[in-house]
Amino acid sequence: MKNKGLIWLGVLFGLCLLTGCGWETAVVPPPPLPTLVPTGLPAATSTLPPPSVAGATPIAQQPANTPAPTATPTATATPTITPSPTPTATPIGPCDERLPRDDLFTIVTQTYGLSRDYAPQDLVLLTDYLPVNVTLGYPTEIRQIAIGPLVQMMADMQNSGLEPFIISGYRSYAAQAISWDKWNREEPERAAILSARPGHSEHQLGTTVDFGSPELAEIVGIADIEFHTYFYQTSEGIWLAENAHRYGFTLSYPRGAQELTGFFYEPWHFRYVGQEMATFLHESGTYLTEYQLINQPEPCIP
Ligand code: DAL
Ligand code: ZN
Repeated sequence: MKNKGLIWLGVLFGLCLLTGCGWETAVVPPPPLPTLVPTGLPAATSTLPPPSVAGATPIAQQPANTPAPTATPTATATPTITPSPTPTATPIGPCDERLPRDDLFTIVTQTYGLSRDYAPQDLVLLTDYLPVNVTLGYPTEIRQIAIGPLVQMMADMQNSGLEPFIISGYRSYAAQAISWDKWNREEPERAAILSARPGHSEHQLGTTVDFGSPELAEIVGIADIEFHTYFYQTSEGIWLAENAHRYGFTLSYPRGAQELTGFFYEPWHFRYVGQEMATFLHESGTYLTEYQLINQPEPCIP
């Protein structure tokens, strides 16, 4: 009996050597490797224009070469520009010789001006992109980089039942000089807070637009009024204050900012800075000049 048992054990051992006794099937597979997730990166941001009002249709057939709205160059959720002058930094020159690159963040104030020779290189005619009830038929120009968002914004406003129109866009140094002279003739006491001197207007950048509303004349009680603070009470002014940032436009001279901007409240004057920067400014309750004076190095010698 004892020998029989030993023989069986030997047979079993031999079989195990041949088959592995099924141990390999009992091995627990290693856990899958964790997927590496990059951390510290900004959330992806869309470069598409903001959504239109449901059911909206464009008011104007855009030419085939209409550029897509372009995201601002700084792709961070809370943009900050840290001045970091280095010994190799380009020395700054006088403001009246300043020829900035065509970027969206060029600071232009009563202190920091532009050369009379500066003009943006990508100006387009609004009349090629927008219907006559928005352009009023005037040959106004703005930079191409802003035309897509502007067309979309005008379409969305019209499809919401509003009637915005555009009074002013790009103004050359010479055109600003004419405007400055006019304000000085008509309102000499207040010209300096209502109009920029030539070389000191954001309109020379080609990214700034003054909007109008058909309601303004009735609210103010003057038939041919173009600009008035009461624009903020018009349906178009209210909509722009609440929504323009979604299209990349920011209000340059808000109420209560005169001490810093030097200019009286202009609820009609919007500058294109890209969706991300405009939204950042809107949500943080700040405005471009304030942001720039804190975050950007002095751009020229006044
Ligand atoms: N009205 C604004 C300040 C301009 O003249 O640019
Ligand atoms: Zn303006």
